[in-house]
Amino acid sequence: MSGFSTEWLALREPVDHRSRDSALQERLRDVLSQRAGAGARPLRILDLGCGAGSNLRALAPVLPGEQHWTLVDYDPALLRASRQTIAGWASRVLEDGERLTIDKGGRRIVIDFLQRDLARDFEPLLASAPDLVTAAALFDLVSSQWIVQFCDRVQSVFYTVLTYNGAERWTPPHAADADVLRAFHAHQTTDKGFGVAAGPGATQLLRDRLAARGFTVELAPSPWILGPQDRPLMQALCTGSAGAVSETGMVPQAELSGWLETHRQATRCEIGHWDLLAVPSGMPVG
Ligand SMILES: C[S@@+](CC[C@H](N)C(=O)[O-])C[C@H]1O[C@@H](n2cnc3c(N)ncnc32)[C@H](O)[C@@H]1O
Repeated sequence: MSGFSTEWLALREPVDHRSRDSALQERLRDVLSQRAGAGARPLRILDLGCGAGSNLRALAPVLPGEQHWTLVDYDPALLRASRQTIAGWASRVLEDGERLTIDKGGRRIVIDFLQRDLARDFEPLLASAPDLVTAAALFDLVSSQWIVQFCDRVQSVFYTVLTYNGAERWTPPHAADADVLRAFHAHQTTDKGFGVAAGPGATQLLRDRLAARGFTVELAPSPWILGPQDRPLMQALCTGSAGAVSETGMVPQAELSGWLETHRQATRCEIGHWDLLAVPSGMPVG
């Protein structure tokens, strides 16, 4: 349904996990450890666009104490995949209807799975005022207008990682790199279900809107740095990019084929992302 296959998400998961900025992640842990009432009840976390559950697998082991996650996606196949992969990852699993309770790394984690189209139906989720709203690799898909509405309504600590920032460098380079990147950015800002997507401009918009509301906002780069050990991901990446560029018609097909042929043999590739942490005013920032 969403166009994000479980194969693609599984391929990127280890790279996503190692690319996150660990200092910002530790800052998040400190902020949540110092929240009012910490330890008295499980930490409540909302994960937007959860895919197959990668964000939970990266973050739950870092966050303090007992946790209650709500995983949201509009793709039922990905929600099923997230349930299955989280159960396989846990050391102990208890199923209670739709809810999973797992033990992992000495933590008790309760997980609910929610099918929602975030383009239309995100406000009640934010109104439930979780301790943390989080997302991974989502915000470049949403529109600027959606980001504005989101920023005006979020009241919780907000942590989003791996938002594409538009920077790409392939080794060896190809003469069409700049043209292909320009066309890819044009494709990035087409409608991904939320209206014209914010694409690489998403993080700056989030930062500005949240800062204007008094949040303390920190950014950290989280680039994918891919080498020969990541060849399957590099190949899937350049094949996917070439497909998107082809749809724009902005690069002649012969040039694009040459670009793809070169980059399928790449020895290194760097893709830029941002991680962002925003803490509401009045909360200690770690
Ligand atoms: C790039 S994937 C990231 C998945 C996951 N967060 C990860 O890091 O592996 C984007 C996710 O957003 C979800 N998504 C896209 N549009 C959505 C919408 N309108 N409502 C809910 N989920 C959406 C997709 O189904 C997909 O799971």
